[in-house]
Amino acid sequence: MIRVEQLHKTFQLDKGGVRAVQGVGFTVNEGEFFTLLGPSGSGKSTILRCLAGLEHPDQGEIIIGSQHVFSSRTKHTVPPEERPIGMVFQSYAIWPHMNVFENVAFPLKRGTKHGQKRLSEGQIAEAVAEALKKVNLAGMEYRPATQLSGGQQQRVALARALAHRPAVLLLDEPLSNLDAKLREEMREELRELTKSLNITSVYVTHDQVEALALSDRIAVLMEGALVAEGLPFELYLHPRDKRVADFLGAANVLEGKILKVEPNGEGVMQTGVGTLHFSSDSPAAAWSAQGKVAALVRPEAIICAAEKPGSAENIFLGTIQRVTFQGSVFNILLRINDATLRVFCDVYNSTLLPSAGQKVYVCIPREHVNVVGAS
Ligand SMILES: Nc1ncnc2c1ncn2[C@@H]1O[C@H](COP(=O)(O)OP(=O)(O)OP(=O)(O)O)[C@@H](O)[C@H]1O
Ligand SMILES: [Mg+2]
Repeated sequence: MIRVEQLHKTFQLDKGGVRAVQGVGFTVNEGEFFTLLGPSGSGKSTILRCLAGLEHPDQGEIIIGSQHVFSSRTKHTVPPEERPIGMVFQSYAIWPHMNVFENVAFPLKRGTKHGQKRLSEGQIAEAVAEALKKVNLAGMEYRPATQLSGGQQQRVALARALAHRPAVLLLDEPLSNLDAKLREEMREELRELTKSLNITSVYVTHDQVEALALSDRIAVLMEGALVAEGLPFELYLHPRDKRVADFLGAANVLEGKILKVEPNGEGVMQTGVGTLHFSSDSPAAAWSAQGKVAALVRPEAIICAAEKPGSAENIFLGTIQRVTFQGSVFNILLRINDATLRVFCDVYNSTLLPSAGQKVYVCIPREHVNVVGAS
């Protein structure tokens, strides 16, 4: 378990300061894979480094397992080597002059960790072998570090972080230096490994696909503040914020105003494409009071057809402006009345062969219209 409360960190520079983390708080449950997702500079690494003890927060409380590792209230801080953590960095941080065994054994040889006694040579060898087996590098002990591929180096870094059996694994963009195919493979392996070890993990990434695929829960960071938190599925399908919707994937943002809302959440709004029916579980009163709202619609939720669909609601006639073939989908840009709409049309389940200039019907199912405040 990890608990972070009211974490603040400002870096002092010659000209003023950078408020890297501004009042962030979250809890990670035992065995959970928790991701801090955000754009570059949003404070992800700073938070992770505060957890590891590599950065000294200005304010806040950090609890890891049963240990209160940082407290600005009591001015108490536990040094990094005494925290029950293993850390993996984007840059691997593998020592080139050592072989695989020496790299993984290095932190074990350094001596006491979490009050444990110094390990014997035999115990170290055992711990290294066990860690290498976990990351599928068994038998590679005596390979020089310089002869390893990027993926193998990353596995060594992971084995090194796991060798002392930490309670918590901290990972800072560990896959971003790998090529796309390997990244995908490693993603699946990492998910399986952390789940089989039931290790509590905090993962940092700016890659939304990676976050969605790996995480039990995601926290979205923007400019040092946590702006959303939830299950991947929930955050993707029902974002409560325009910036979050946009960051988690492609999203059409149709600004407009509410014309009518029923107490059950069903309503009608006026947008650039026309009158849009929606039904949502959000409290209707929250938007009617705001006046201006935005409908968020994922491009893959929209149906595109050459013939007018049977259903009567949320059907619009548009003109295709541009089509990009992306393998599994046609990425279509449409002009409908006063708005542009992006639609991902499934190549295998579509009767449409879209081309620029073509007039097509689109249907926006009301359950996929996500209404949020237009800020
Ligand atoms: N040691 C430092 N000195 C001064 N400013 C820093 C320092 N470390 C980080 N910052 C600043 O703090 C902010 C947050 O940085 P951080 O590295 O946490 O972002 P990040 O979300 O990890 O970004 P990235 O995705 O690019 O790694 C940035 O504006 C960064 O420039
Ligand atoms: Mg970073």
